[in-house]
Amino acid sequence: MSVPMPDFVRVIDVAELPDPGKTLVDVDGDMIALFHVGGAFYAIDDVCTHDGGPLADGELRDHKIACPRHGAKFDIRTGAALSMPAVRPTRAHDVKVEGGGVWVRLRAEAGVGGPPLHGSLPVTAAAVSTCCTPPAAREAAAGGAAGAPGGPLCEDRVREMLKEVKDPELFVNIVDLGLIYGVTLSPATDVPGKQHVAIDMTMTSPACPAGPQLIADTKRVVGASPDVEAVEVRIVMDPPWTPDRMTEAARDQLGIF
Ligand code: FES
Repeated sequence: MSVPMPDFVRVIDVAELPDPGKTLVDVDGDMIALFHVGGAFYAIDDVCTHDGGPLADGELRDHKIACPRHGAKFDIRTGAALSMPAVRPTRAHDVKVEGGGVWVRLRAEAGVGGPPLHGSLPVTAAAVSTCCTPPAAREAAAGGAAGAPGGPLCEDRVREMLKEVKDPELFVNIVDLGLIYGVTLSPATDVPGKQHVAIDMTMTSPACPAGPQLIADTKRVVGASPDVEAVEVRIVMDPPWTPDRMTEAARDQLGIF
């Protein structure tokens, strides 16, 4: 059975919103961000798809609105997510100008697709870096030396391992995303020769839906090293993550402007 299309609702007078300009309007109980840019009006949900940020409070530049919370940008014409940490579109709605007023009709769904969501993360065996090892020792390790290939465990090696862990929405590893705040190694008390690894990790938002998966994958990847006795992941939200923590490689990968 088809769902009847909602009616257009008059939300403001044309003269009420300067060009360029933005405002928040209520359409049948939904809070909608309304924009006036280049002589045309556009309407999208006042909801950032990253973590619910209020888009109408963000900075408007041309046809892009930046979420005030973590900086994701959306196209006000289509609702498309243009930059991380948002990857899904927000809903864009129908708008018309008639009788001196601006009218909005809600659409049921977002109309523009983003990258695929929550693909399963293939976790491979722990990456083994040779960052702490002189060339001769590397060759020896490559030749099959038992114990700890790649030399003694160090922070750099752990960070290399962590590049195996990728955000399931963004497909960028957690090191380049800037989620790793610290790595601390200490000798395991009950297993001689092995290390306890404590990792201070943040999330792009407190309610990041990928959080449990990222923690589990971090433990699995680092814990696969023969040098590691135990892995502890400590979630740190202060200071909060911001997009400027990303490396250039991550920015390139995400096409951030
Ligand atoms: S809530 Fe909008 S970018 Fe995080």
